[in-house]
Amino acid sequence: MAKNSVLLALLALSFSYLTSAFDPSPLQDFCVAKATTTVKLNGLACKDPSRVHANDFFFRGLHIAGNTSNAAGFGATQVSAAQIRGLNTLGISLVRLDFAPGGINAPHIHPRASEMLTVLDGALEVGFVTSNPDNKLFVKVLQKGDVFVFPVGLVHYQRNVGNSNAVALSGLNSQNPGLVSVASSVFGSEPGISREALAKAFQIDANTVDKINVSKF
Ligand SMILES: *[C@@H]1O[C@H](CO)[C@@H](O)[C@H](O)[C@H]1NC(C)=O
Ligand SMILES: *[C@@H]1O[C@H](CO)[C@@H](O)[C@H](O)[C@H]1NC(C)=O
Repeated sequence: MAKNSVLLALLALSFSYLTSAFDPSPLQDFCVAKATTTVKLNGLACKDPSRVHANDFFFRGLHIAGNTSNAAGFGATQVSAAQIRGLNTLGISLVRLDFAPGGINAPHIHPRASEMLTVLDGALEVGFVTSNPDNKLFVKVLQKGDVFVFPVGLVHYQRNVGNSNAVALSGLNSQNPGLVSVASSVFGSEPGISREALAKAFQIDANTVDKINVSKF
């Protein structure tokens, strides 16, 4: 009996931990972020509700393709709480992804959100890798209309494998999903991680580390 109640307590604890691992639920209809405030809290301070208007929940321009004239051949147009202040506390956001032929949204992590992607045009190879020790890759080629899910916190990527431009739209369950790019955080930090540390971590010599050129995607 005592054992059971300990188990139940642990279970309850783990559920409360899980629910608090994502954006908190709103305690009012909305909390439109105030444009200028010195108040610091987890999220953004609310604007006076009597001064909230439709434009606080509005964004125009997601029909416009992102700029893919870069080394990755990739452009992202984010619509999160920074673009729509009304998203503050709602735990949801959107991003448009544009890929030139061969373009890649290089391996990255969203520390605060799972992602649900649909291809609007073209063909994308998409994949994510499970955490240690398995590091198992789940990979799929998507066509127009296909949907794929990237679980929160896991390394994932998308690559255009078609002959034309590709376009995708993703929904994420955070007002501010965050972005950790694997290449630029490991090889492109400021200041850089020591070349000796990287050489040891990747089992290569330090001269090879110096040759790695990470563009900021
Ligand atoms: C796209 O980005 C490139 C590189 O930053 C820039 O030179 C170019 O002007 C941009 N194109 C448009 C249409 O904004
Ligand atoms: C690194 O990549 C950028 C973008 O492709 C390029 O402009 C730059 O010349 C490269 N630097 C070196 C040292 O190769």
